[in-house]
Amino acid sequence: EHNHGRIEFKDVTFRYEGAEKPVLKKISFTAMPGETTAIIGSTGSGKTTVLQLIPRFYDVESGEILIDGQDIKNIKQSTLRSKIGYVPQKASLFSGTIFENIAFGKEDATEEEIYTALKTAQAFDFVEKRGKGIHSTLEQAGVNLSGGQKQRLSIARSLVRKPQIYLFDDSFSALDYKTDRILRDALKSETAEATLIIVAQRVNTVKDAEKIIVLNEGEVAGIGTHAELLENNKIYQEIVAS
Ligand code: GTP
Ligand code: MG
Repeated sequence: EHNHGRIEFKDVTFRYEGAEKPVLKKISFTAMPGETTAIIGSTGSGKTTVLQLIPRFYDVESGEILIDGQDIKNIKQSTLRSKIGYVPQKASLFSGTIFENIAFGKEDATEEEIYTALKTAQAFDFVEKRGKGIHSTLEQAGVNLSGGQKQRLSIARSLVRKPQIYLFDDSFSALDYKTDRILRDALKSETAEATLIIVAQRVNTVKDAEKIIVLNEGEVAGIGTHAELLENNKIYQEIVAS
């Protein structure tokens, strides 16, 4: 019933400039609003590349990517970017206050909005423990933060903008299983209508997604729920066993 953020990949083939071979080959899948779509696959399988095609960091070589039925090539760049909350694999924090880092992309954010985002991202407690809370400064872009703390701040940054579409690139990998779980539950209820795409390498993070896409050497090796893939997908079985 929602028609706000349905993403469709149709036979998408993509090659990095100057590369001999395409890194993505005829990728097709749909990610629905109100659902979590997970992408799992070994390193170099093309997960980050898939995510980066959605905000058009690169253009496809063939095939198409549609959002709510519209080819993203026909969507104004600023409109497209405003729909999408992209959390990159490597957090890009800068030397400024936590407030400034979270409000990056929504400069008029209120303290209340920042706090709400930090709570959902399970970052409120460690931020509060810093002397000046959200007004503490991140030294040298966060060298004094753990990997998991940086991931949670990047997630909080995406939440403040309230996009229709969230792209999380390995954003939970440095969290312990319990925090990973609590954070994803909080995200799910806070972004109930949004389209969530979660890239991960560990099964625990993708297990409860409505749809899991298994990527292997740039190709879709299977799509299904955890139970379905466990039953019929060899590559997924190997990932589970590893
Ligand atoms: P991990 O993050 O390590 O789990 O890998 P991934 O699944 O996200 O793979 P990614 O999409 O980053 O890379 C897919 C393939 O594209 C790999 O063979 C990379 O070496 C290659 N690749 C990634 N970025 C670039 C780039 O900017 N230029 C070129 N030429 N190749 C790239
Ligand atoms: Mg990656």
